[in-house]
Amino acid sequence: MKEHAIKLSILNTLCDGHFHSGEGLGEQLGISRAAVSKHVKGIQSWGVDVFSVQGKGYKLAEPMQLLNQELLQSLVTAPLELIPVIDSTNQHLLDRINVLESGSVCLAEYQSKGRGRRGREWVSPFGCNLYLSMYWRLEAGMAGAMGLSLVVGVAIVEALEKLGIAGIKLKWPNDLYHHDKKLAGILVEMSGQAGSAAHLVIGMGMNLAMPSNTQGITQPWACLSDVAEQTVDRNQLAATLINTLQDALTDYEMTGMQGFVERWNRVDNYLGREIRLIMGNREVVGVSRGINEQGAVLIETSNGLETYIGGEISLRGMQSHF
Ligand code: ATP
Ligand code: BTN
Repeated sequence: MKEHAIKLSILNTLCDGHFHSGEGLGEQLGISRAAVSKHVKGIQSWGVDVFSVQGKGYKLAEPMQLLNQELLQSLVTAPLELIPVIDSTNQHLLDRINVLESGSVCLAEYQSKGRGRRGREWVSPFGCNLYLSMYWRLEAGMAGAMGLSLVVGVAIVEALEKLGIAGIKLKWPNDLYHHDKKLAGILVEMSGQAGSAAHLVIGMGMNLAMPSNTQGITQPWACLSDVAEQTVDRNQLAATLINTLQDALTDYEMTGMQGFVERWNRVDNYLGREIRLIMGNREVVGVSRGINEQGAVLIETSNGLETYIGGEISLRGMQSHF
């Protein structure tokens, strides 16, 4: 069996949320009970809450809906690869850019080296969130990359709205928030520029039902399961995100930021609120006035309306302490 295949097979059985005996799992897979126990430890190291009760066996704290490559591929036109256990979906696409078609997607259930902006870690436990990357060849070149990363945020909020999930907001430049807590993050990475086109990998991590005891996150975070009224179907959500993203990127290629400024400002988490922009040792304080057509953030300070753009800027609400 391939690496991780036994663990994935055990998870496939456990995902119904019922008890399964170590003996039964072992028989199913042709391995000993001791080997099952070892694999369960491995599964726990992926951040899955599995517990065992003597005489009953193993059980997940919550049932889990796994992603299904065939089903997903039937719902989207983009070429799609589901790799359950991976280092980083962004890295996977970056390593294969030469052979990929623009629009290709990679999804995972667990990332051992999920990353955020500026090399920060993206905490990526198994099966409870979404980790999704798309390769996009941007004909407009690097000049269009800043706008594109904002368009991705707008597309994700709109995809959630299509599924009846309202109240998700954007924090410039690349985060999705719910009630001032981080629900999802976007990371756009570039793999050089051949001719005039830019080769970009757009990565998105969204929390769906992450265990509340998850360690390693250094700021307040939210989960979609706390927002949505009904349980979210992970496959349907992933497919809707991919299709909406592809449409928005195609629109952006044709019309630029026109139209997206208003769409962004409608769901800007900080519009009209006091914010701080942190740029190294420098800090600018003022009232957030949304974005402009270049994708810059607008802030009204005591010196008037100022615009800021660039990857090294962090925006914070006045109440936040991180
Ligand atoms: P900025 O880049 O503007 O400073 P930021 O603080 O959100 O914004 P990012 O680099 O965008 O920083 O994201 C990394 C942050 O996200 C880190 O604080 C990290 O602890 C946190 N983080 C990591 N994994 C998750 C997750 N699954 N859900 C929510 N937040 C996470
Ligand atoms: C951030 O908020 O800093 C961006 C987080 C981006 C996380 C996603 S998960 C899928 C893709 N693969 C990665 O390693 N990172 C992105």
